[in-house]
Amino acid sequence: MEEEDREAADPFETVAETYEQLLVPALFGQWSAPVADAAMVGEGQRVLDVACGTGVLARDLAQRVGPQGAVSALDINPAMLAVARKMGGRAIDWREGSAEQLPYGDARFDAVVSQFGLMLFPAPEQALREMMRVLAAGGRLAVAVFDSLDSLPAYGAMVDIYTRVVGEEVGQALRSPFSLGDADVLASCFADAGIGDAVITSLEGRARFPDVGTMVTSDVRGWFPFAQIRLDEQTVDAVIREAEEALAPYTRPDGEVEFPLPVLIVTAVKK
Ligand SMILES: C[S@@+](CC[C@H](N)C(=O)[O-])C[C@H]1O[C@@H](n2cnc3c(N)ncnc32)[C@H](O)[C@@H]1O
Repeated sequence: MEEEDREAADPFETVAETYEQLLVPALFGQWSAPVADAAMVGEGQRVLDVACGTGVLARDLAQRVGPQGAVSALDINPAMLAVARKMGGRAIDWREGSAEQLPYGDARFDAVVSQFGLMLFPAPEQALREMMRVLAAGGRLAVAVFDSLDSLPAYGAMVDIYTRVVGEEVGQALRSPFSLGDADVLASCFADAGIGDAVITSLEGRARFPDVGTMVTSDVRGWFPFAQIRLDEQTVDAVIREAEEALAPYTRPDGEVEFPLPVLIVTAVKK
């Protein structure tokens, strides 16, 4: 087998490609500009994107810092990084590693950003301490997380469906991306990391999927396998049937699913 064929056959890379094709346009892509703005990223800066995934934010940062700046981007998942590398992006230093143990020296960056990773880290406070360690004095941190499930009834409905149709474990997995969406819990997480003066700003985006089937597929094929969740076709069909009913309030006549997507962005400045 040619080297290229072997790469394309990596099942986890296919998952990461689905993430990039379905979830980035529906949910994640719209946040790169607000997060980069929150960290005041500008020309010539050295910037780090933690939990970069397939690189949507890092690519935006590379445009902003220009040829005099530098962008580093880190993720723990080699399949996500493989897709990020394929997507390109001017001279981004992609690195595999853990947010809790950043492989960079102290005070290396003018800004550190991270979108939709913190709530998935095993030790979020340690990751925040690391982000502050690698920031230079006066440098800015901006971290985005989804609001809580109470504010996202469409995903609340999906959690109920997965719990009923598949089981508690899958319902619980779908809860985790929203687990730091309570502003008090989020503030405590930053305070426990020694960042007592963090500022939390609430913003509202829009989630948009072409149809209910694509919304379900985006989870089933775009990240569930990373969490060791594999569903057979019959189960996925059953989930889609239930979701078509539950998501009717958010479904347009042409089939597009659209609903508000509230997000919390936390900013802090390194002293
Ligand atoms: C929901 S994705 C967000 C990716 C990207 N920031 C975006 O906006 O598309 C979460 C990412 O966090 C990464 N991740 C999870 N735990 C991590 C850890 N401990 N250290 C570094 N990255 C981690 C995952 O591999 C995944 O790429």
